[in-house]
This record gives sequence, C-alpha cells and structure tokens, in this order.
Amino acid sequence: MGVAVVVLAAGQGKRMRSERPKVLHPLAGRPLLAHVLDRAFELTEPGSVHVVHGHGADRVRAAFADAGVRWVLQAEQLGTGHAVAQAISAISDGDRVVVLCGDVPLVAVESLRRLAETRSGLALLTARLSDPTGYGRVLRNADGAVERIVEDKDATPAQRNVTEINSGLMALEAADLKRWIARLSNNNAQGEYYLTDVIGMAVGEGVRVEGIEVADPQTVLGINDKAQLAAAERTFQRAVADRLLTAGVTLADPARVDVRGELIVGRDVFIDVNVVFEGRVVLGDGVTIGAGSVIADSTLGAETRVHALTMMSGIATGERCELGPFARLRPGADLAAAVKVGNFVEIKNSRVEQGSKINHLTYIGDAMIGTGVNIGAGTITCNYDGAAKHRTTIGDDVFIGSGVMLVAPIEIGAGATIGAGSTLSKDAPAGELTLARSRQTTIPGWQRPRKPAK
Ligand code: UD1
Ligand code: CA
Repeated sequence: MGVAVVVLAAGQGKRMRSERPKVLHPLAGRPLLAHVLDRAFELTEPGSVHVVHGHGADRVRAAFADAGVRWVLQAEQLGTGHAVAQAISAISDGDRVVVLCGDVPLVAVESLRRLAETRSGLALLTARLSDPTGYGRVLRNADGAVERIVEDKDATPAQRNVTEINSGLMALEAADLKRWIARLSNNNAQGEYYLTDVIGMAVGEGVRVEGIEVADPQTVLGINDKAQLAAAERTFQRAVADRLLTAGVTLADPARVDVRGELIVGRDVFIDVNVVFEGRVVLGDGVTIGAGSVIADSTLGAETRVHALTMMSGIATGERCELGPFARLRPGADLAAAVKVGNFVEIKNSRVEQGSKINHLTYIGDAMIGTGVNIGAGTITCNYDGAAKHRTTIGDDVFIGSGVMLVAPIEIGAGATIGAGSTLSKDAPAGELTLARSRQTTIPGWQRPRKPAK
C-alpha cells in the first residue's frame, strides 16, 4: 500500500491564448508543472507519479525529460475523469491515489499530506471564494456533509451562489476510483467525463467523504488565463518576500522584489526596489543590492555593494566588492575581494584579483587581471579576431591609461604603465611605461573648409 499521484496536465489551456501548453507557462521562473511535481515528490517517489499529458505532449515531456515520472498520454482531452482513467491501469488496487492539477501550482504540501494520510474514503480540498465563478461548487446537505460537486456550467442559479469551491485536488482509494471511473458518463453541459462526479458516487455507496477547507484560498486557485497567472505570481512572490523578511533581510518594498529561483541570504542584507533574482543566488552577510538590479546564478561575498541597475549572471565575488551602477557582469566573471567595477563596464570570463579597479566604460573579456590594477576609462580587451577568442594577462599593480586597446593574445608585465590612447598588439614589459600612439602634429595656419557663399 503506497501513495500514487496522478497529475492532470493534458489540457490545452485555451484561455491562456498561447501556443505554449498551459503547464509550461512559467511561475516564478519555472513551469507550472515543475511546482506541481515538487509537491508530488513530497508525497511519493517519482516512479509513482503519473503525469497525464496530451496537448503539446512532446514539449511537455521534453521539458521534464529527467523527472523520472510515468508519462500517460491522453490523446484526446475528454475531461478530467477520462484523464484519470488513462492512468489507473498502472496503479495498484491497494494504493491511495492523490489527484493533482497541473494548473494548481501553489497548494500547500501540508494540505496534500492531509489528503494522502486520510487512509480511507475520499477527501477533497475545498476553499471559500468571494467570487466562485467558473469553479465546481461543493454541495453539502443540511448536516454539512458533502453530497456532490456541480460544475459551474451545469449549476442552477441557486447552486451558483454557493461560495465553497472544489479545488480539483482529491485523494481516494485506487480500488474505489477504478470502480467509479468505469461508471462516469459525459451527459453534462460540456459533454466531458467529469472526475468530480465520483464524489456523488462515493456518497451514494456510503463511502466517507471529507471536504477539507484550506485556510488560504489563494493556494488552491487554478490558473486558466493570464490574469490568474499574474495573480498567482504575486501570491508566490509575496510569500517569498515574507520568508526573506522573517530571515532578517531588509526589503525596501516587499511588493517589489522578484525571486525566480533560490535566494540564499546571510545576515543584514539589504535589497532595494525592483530587484530580480534568477536561478541560485547567494548573498553574503551585509550585502546591499541597488534598485533595478538583475542577479542570476551568482555568489556575492560579504559586504559587497551592488549599485543600481547592475546586471550579473554566473559570477562570483569576494568580500567588499563594489559593482555598478550600470555594470554588466557576465558568466565567468570571478572577482576577488575589494574589486571595484563601475558604470558601463562589461566583464566576462575573467579573473580579477584583489583591490583592482575598473571604474568606467570598459570591456574585459577572457582576461587575468592581477592585484591592485587600475584600468582607465574606455579600455578594451580586443579578445576576438572574428574566429577565435584570445586571452589578455595583466600583472599586479599595472596602470592602464584611458582609451587603451589591448589586442589579445597579449601580456602586460607587473607594474607596467600603459599610456592613454595606446593600441597594443605586443606584450608590454614589466615596470616600464609603454606607449603606442601616433605622434601629435600641428599644421600651422590650416583653414577649415567653408560652404561656398550663395
Ligand atoms: C476543474 C474541476 C472543478 C474545479 C476546478 C479547479 C472537473 C470536471 N472540474 O475544472 O470542479 O473547481 O478544476 O481548478 O474536474 N485536464 C486533462 N484532461 C482533460 C481535461 C482536463 O488533463 O481531458 C487537466 C487540465 O489540463 C487541468 C486540469 O485537468 O490541469 C483541470 O482541467 P480544467 O479544464 O482546467 O478544469 P476546470 O474547468 O478548471
Ligand atoms: Ca482549471
């Protein structure tokens, strides 16, 4: 006796008005289905998770190729009951079956545990909504016991006034499910086989039915259109912000930070407004992030300050670095402690050692920069010859003047000084001043051309 999970994910999601299968639309940077599978894996092992898919089947399978779940094809979408019917032959009679919907991504794991752990009868999650339009309504008798579910399209005006809705998530015994599924008909307003009809069948057979109302209705809302997707995103982000606040992070505005992945924080972190985090980001103690920055898959050392509108992806820094405003740090930017990267500087695939400064208008690619280096404004490592990338190596304590082109492969020896405006295509020796400029000349009495008089 185990737990089997059936995830319903075959629908097209017409109301999304999109080519993309509904369950692949992102919530907090991950497909809806990824959130649902996370929850399924809290209940049972991947091999006992049956994902009913159909619309966009290839795309859905490809997006979760490594999930280890069982794929069940529902070639034609004839309703939620028909969808479950495709999966049941692979489920043992003694199992408890938990039905999840690919479009209900925010449900609390605790609610699902309550469904799974009720070891007999049928249990379903319900919620009270001030506007229940579109949802199946939970009909209860005078004693408050659940009698059946009526779909919105089949409901009478009086039934439509019921505010308790069916979340679509339920658990029941596999043997019961198999018996009831065989009896479903599609004689209803939508001409579909409704899974929800099994609730009335359970009541008819005297099987215990428990409607568990969730405390927070937001967690069981289905996503059928872009407005609901946007609302779910806000619900998700608000919950993340609350967790960050609880962890001691200072947020300039909890409503204006978006975490699309995993954010790991030290103590006394400050995050200004409109910051977006993607993938796995680690912020050390005392890190501050300026307004409008976008930070993906990066690790920032303690006391590092990121100024406004700085973008970074796939980077790592030591302690006390200062980045931005308006800097772009690309994958492989690896900064030691106390490095300064200023405005309009782009760095990729480069190691910069402690205390070096790259303060203005510079491109550094495929470079090694030693300690205590100063790179002047407008410097470019010319790393690409149109076919291959080449490396630039800059020794400790080098001073590079403004507007220098370093044509790679090239090495600048430790302690060297490079004059402003130089274009270097050969190595520069350590400790010396190297210049590569055309000589300045003045032509006395030269006249600027004039337009002829009319
Ligand atoms: C369903 C419930 C409704 C509930 C609501 C909650 C039924 C009949 N109705 O309605 O009581 O209030 O969810 O969100 O179950 N799907 C398939 N194959 C199909 C049809 C649907 O896999 O043939 C999947 C969809 O992809 C979706 C889920 O089942 O993930 C629910 O289907 P949907 O059409 O959205 O049902 P609702 O009308 O929302
Ligand atoms: Ca739905």
